[in-house]
Amino acid sequence: MCGIVGYVGKRSACDILINGLRRLEYRGYDSAGVALLTHERLLVVKQTGKVALLEKRLAETVPAAVREQARIGIAHTRWATHGLPTEANAHPHVADGGQLALVHNGIIENYATLRRQLETRGCVFVSQTDTEVLAHLVSTFDTGDLLAAVSQALKRVEGTYGIAVVSTRHPGQIVVARKGSPLVVGIGDNETLIASDVSAIVAHTRQVIYLQDGDVALVTAEGPQIYTLDNMPVDRAVANVEWEIGAAEKGGYEHFMLKEIFEQPAALQNTIRGRLDLTLSTAILSGLSLSPRELAAIQRLVIVACGTSLHAGMVGKYLFEGLADLPTDPEQAAEFRYCNPIIGPDDLVIAISQSGETADTLAAVRESIQKGALVAGLCNVVGSTIAREAGRGVYLHAGPEIGVASTKAFTAQVTVLLMMALKLGRCRRLSRETGRTLCEEIVNIPAMIQKVLAQNEAIAAIAAKYAHVNNAFFIGRGILYPTALEGALKLKEISYIHAEGYQAAELKHGPIALLDENMPVIALLNDIPGKEKTLGNVQECRARRAPVIGIVTEGDTEAEQGVNDVIRLPRTSVYTAPVVTAVALQLFAYHVARLRGCEIDQPRNLAKSVTVE
Ligand code: G6P
Repeated sequence: MCGIVGYVGKRSACDILINGLRRLEYRGYDSAGVALLTHERLLVVKQTGKVALLEKRLAETVPAAVREQARIGIAHTRWATHGLPTEANAHPHVADGGQLALVHNGIIENYATLRRQLETRGCVFVSQTDTEVLAHLVSTFDTGDLLAAVSQALKRVEGTYGIAVVSTRHPGQIVVARKGSPLVVGIGDNETLIASDVSAIVAHTRQVIYLQDGDVALVTAEGPQIYTLDNMPVDRAVANVEWEIGAAEKGGYEHFMLKEIFEQPAALQNTIRGRLDLTLSTAILSGLSLSPRELAAIQRLVIVACGTSLHAGMVGKYLFEGLADLPTDPEQAAEFRYCNPIIGPDDLVIAISQSGETADTLAAVRESIQKGALVAGLCNVVGSTIAREAGRGVYLHAGPEIGVASTKAFTAQVTVLLMMALKLGRCRRLSRETGRTLCEEIVNIPAMIQKVLAQNEAIAAIAAKYAHVNNAFFIGRGILYPTALEGALKLKEISYIHAEGYQAAELKHGPIALLDENMPVIALLNDIPGKEKTLGNVQECRARRAPVIGIVTEGDTEAEQGVNDVIRLPRTSVYTAPVVTAVALQLFAYHVARLRGCEIDQPRNLAKSVTVE
């Protein structure tokens, strides 16, 4: 949440910053701003709304020649925490009479105290943000060394930050620092970039350094010099970004979300590649760094995650309990960290996070490590904080996910959990034959998804019938219950329809009171154990005149006859049913949102990576 990008080098900074911001817009889009250093002058332009509006504002207010002169600058796209999304609250924030500019991602918890102290010293504040405090604080410590000033300021700060600072008094320098919010430095040829996420800079360089918590760096065109806040130099390895820039572009699709839905067969192929051992009928997950003996000794699994990742974790419960006989407790990560969880050395805590940066999930990881449990990260973003701090885990390898509503990450997460369950099961009671069947099913997942994608037009036609509704229920049973939750989440996130997921059996214990002809029910009726009972629940819905969209297995006429509209899925086993079903629900939500004219890739109030509690 909030995106930061910065550039120092020989090229014109402005376009590089704007293009970088565009790629970071998924992190927040309440407002955007840029600070450019030209001939010892600081030029700051801010704008509420999206990056495109900032670009327009720049073109209207700053002559092209001036824009092109700047060789250094920082920029920001905001997801509001403190203060409304106004121009005054937009970053960069300035201090030192307009000589110093700062952008920030995170939350300064003691900002009110700091603000009072700074005001008594004569600082004048123009915004409601916590960030403006940082700008003034750095400026008060600046006696000729910007790096030292930033370090001094940050020592007085409680909270989380990824920041970048420029000042006319220090031409050619950007000082950056991180604690709790990601920052990456890109090393180019006589130019250096900084960003909250590699997608903003991968068009310019693939050589990157992931800063770690507590790092502060002086960045010039020659590269970064990295220190601790106590001015001790630190060495950080240079990593190579593996994916192509095209992976973070729309590639002809109308929205990132649609592209990401359609690339699931290829993405999951990457997730699965090289991870199945067909001879031993098990999974090869070397990143777990646990021997079969250590895996067999695990007594319990706890899964910590938020949002869509939590729904994948809830599917995981059925997989681990069904295949590996392991009691599994999925927990919302924030609840977990505040409930004094009972975990120990026999427990494996699996932290699921697409971004690998979600604050609550990261805190749950730290709490679990502290309590002596084994911890594994299940992340998509390579080098992300959760992946690094967990120390062991499995990468999703699903490629960058840009659409704010998560799609391919969910199906990749469930697929990885299935492979983990296979591996843990094979270390216990699971037979080689069952293992083999599971391997075959996993290999088959991309082809199954392809069959769902072939239903796109049929799903769009059903979406058109229901796009006007204000409310919707999703019902599922057993392993399909979390998928019902995920279907409802997708719909509410991008179409703003009030949608809820329920266990099919729970409906009659209250929610049924809301059913009438205006409340469609999307029923997950895949032909797996439990279907007959869900069909019974469907009858209860129809008896209350609620129209029912049935997600059924192709050829299942019994299920088709019980519902008003049908989406047909290929036949799968119980363990792969959530993946194919989720794809159909993603398409349904997408088409409904599109017909309602919603901003699909950037839904209101949401951010892709939630780095605040
Ligand atoms: C935000 C996003 C969700 C995502 C959740 C967890 O709320 O909008 O789409 O599922 O964070 O994110 P993570 O990166 O930890 O999977």
